Amino acid sequence: MQQLSVRHLLGIKDLTLEDISLIFETADNFKEVINRPIKKVPSLRDITIANIFFENSTRTRLSFELAEKRLSADVVNFSSSNSSVKKGETLLDTVNNILAMKVDMVVMRHASPGAPHFLSRHIKANIVNAGDGTHEHPTQALLDTFSIREKLGEVKGKKVAIIGDIMHSRVALSNIFALQKLGAEVMLCGPKTLIPRHIGELGVKIELDVKKALQWCDVANVLRIQLERQHIKYFPSLREYSLYYGINKNLLDQLDKKIVIMHPGPINRGVELSSDAADSEHSIIMNQVENGVAIRMAVLYLLAGTKLQEE
Ligand code: CP
Repeated sequence: MQQLSVRHLLGIKDLTLEDISLIFETADNFKEVINRPIKKVPSLRDITIANIFFENSTRTRLSFELAEKRLSADVVNFSSSNSSVKKGETLLDTVNNILAMKVDMVVMRHASPGAPHFLSRHIKANIVNAGDGTHEHPTQALLDTFSIREKLGEVKGKKVAIIGDIMHSRVALSNIFALQKLGAEVMLCGPKTLIPRHIGELGVKIELDVKKALQWCDVANVLRIQLERQHIKYFPSLREYSLYYGINKNLLDQLDKKIVIMHPGPINRGVELSSDAADSEHSIIMNQVENGVAIRMAVLYLLAGTKLQEE
């Protein structure tokens, strides 16, 4: 069996191009499986996976749980909001208690950047980062680039504009790393206040005019304004943001080519993306969600393989 170069999926930064290709090829097979009448395979029978979420999630949590169940793993779910974290228990104590119940893999979302990296230094189980604060969201970037490959044939050579709240987005950073490893050109677009000052050093283009960004790109990955992470005012109002940076069907119809619209969700409809654009023929947003299950099946299956090799 071909193997990943890593034991944990903490970030796209740690993956090689060969790792990403292996994940995509494995996801191709699992996508075929989940479209069969019988969607389940026994690949992770006898593996127990804990999904531990310290931050809200709809897509990622459900997608991981479904991926685990399609692979026949045993699944336990933990949400911090109704747990002993509320009584003061530390992250390490929480996870060690879960692991004492013989858990093999941990899928974790946490508000603190680096939380899964910290855990990986202290516990033996494989860890999958399901989003750590404003840092990385690796499975989102894998499903995003997998969806571009599916729609346009390949990622190499494509021009991808990431538009919106770059400053507070873990999706942006993971996408930059994944797109560059796969040979795409990346542009970031948004108000200057929402673009980190030194991010150009990663080799990305910066554009403040959304019309120019849309005219340049083959794919626009539109990001949510993350009000919950904004502790100061970065722009005057949501109405003004929408006026200058909101993407709608009218803007898309003015382009001299047809571009692909993506969004990781959840969408603030009418703010960064209008309904007539989100639900248009340009959009592959629901394909992203479907592909998320196949990508997460591939990641879990391949990481479980690294554990078996060690034993
Ligand atoms: N894309 C994404 O991470 O969505 P959730 O926050 O709903 O998991």
